[in-house]
Amino acid sequence: MDISDISGDIEHVLYTPEQIQERLRELAEQVDSDYADSDPLLVGVLTGAVMVMADLSRALRTHCTMDWMAISSYGSGTQSSGVVRILKDLNTDISGRDVLVVEDIIDTGLTLSYLVSNLRSREPNSLEIMTMFRKPEALQNSVDVKYVGFDIPNEFVVGYGLDYDGRYRNYTGLGTLKPEVYS
Ligand code: XMP
Ligand code: MG
Repeated sequence: MDISDISGDIEHVLYTPEQIQERLRELAEQVDSDYADSDPLLVGVLTGAVMVMADLSRALRTHCTMDWMAISSYGSGTQSSGVVRILKDLNTDISGRDVLVVEDIIDTGLTLSYLVSNLRSREPNSLEIMTMFRKPEALQNSVDVKYVGFDIPNEFVVGYGLDYDGRYRNYTGLGTLKPEVYS
């Protein structure tokens, strides 16, 4: 059988699966110690965060629960506008809970700042953010991110949950795509 291998479309590997998993274990240790006395609610943002949520949660030793939100950002083109619509809300009442938002990537941070103010209005006991990848522009934004996997260059990347046109989420590393993939 002729299989078209995903990795054949990758131009440059930024992080191997092993590097990602090793960094995740370090983050999980931090989360374990920071939440030693609580039972955090991990909030994943669909769809990109499925991989980091699955791997982070299984690397934790502490009890936790998980819930999901789906949001879509309005605005044209590839730039996010910061105006966000909730497509699927949480099933959980977060008031009084210790909430940890789990994100795949923060680019401008606009999506996240909307999400954070929305979640804050529900009066959680605490609200922190973890992201596996962060682009440079995010640093200009006011959102405070407690746990960051890797700071990456300002390039379009795929893999580990991140897609191009719905594909490449299941590529287990993080990489850029060959130019011919876009044409
Ligand atoms: P903002 O700019 O609001 O946007 O922080 C965050 C969302 O933009 C998407 N995004 C990417 N998706 N490769 C992707 O597959 C990328 O390099 C990339 N940069 C931003 C992503 O949906 C993220 O949640
Ligand atoms: Mg995407």
